[in-house]
Amino acid sequence: MNQDDDGFVTLWPTLLLKRHLPSAEAANVALVDCILKLEQSQSQLTANYQSQNLFEQSHPAILWLHQCINKTIADYLSRSGVAVGVNWHLQGWANINRTGDYHTLHNHPHSYLSGTYYVSTPEQALSDHHRSDLNPGEISFFDPRPQANMTAIAGDPQIDPEYRVQPEAGLILLWPSFLHHAVHPNFALEPRISVSFNVVLKRSDALTPRQ
Ligand SMILES: [Fe+2]
Repeated sequence: MNQDDDGFVTLWPTLLLKRHLPSAEAANVALVDCILKLEQSQSQLTANYQSQNLFEQSHPAILWLHQCINKTIADYLSRSGVAVGVNWHLQGWANINRTGDYHTLHNHPHSYLSGTYYVSTPEQALSDHHRSDLNPGEISFFDPRPQANMTAIAGDPQIDPEYRVQPEAGLILLWPSFLHHAVHPNFALEPRISVSFNVVLKRSDALTPRQ
């Protein structure tokens, strides 16, 4: 942890990367087609995410996404200050959330970083009879420091324990795998399609911290 000239130290940062991938529009058309075809051969494509690796598919759009994710991971590691060489294995799966589908609070054990790329994000139209504080189709991340917001005062950056993102097609998110998150229900009639992935590090002595 670095201390600045005035003695201030920012402790335990949680770095999240949120950016749009270039050339996503054309790739997403191909990805939707590819993912829906995969679903025809595996009905529980999303729930059985551990039994597959989407990145073993040779479809050009999957290869494009794989390359984009690897670049995103390299950028993340660079910004987070990791200076040693890091090798990883990428395990990915498709999420197809149909009307009413959601994903409860969870994190991703046994991986270092996790992320999601959004392929198709239908318009979420709430009707007047719904409560006004719903966030259909969004993803929420939660402060990993339990109850750190409890004593926050006005202007304090600890106030909000939740960071919520309204995904758009072409957006990629990358975060530390320990971070708890949840996906709100899809209210649209069309499926909400995304690709999630885990970055599993290949062990090497260079990764052992020197403290
Ligand atoms: Fe997740």
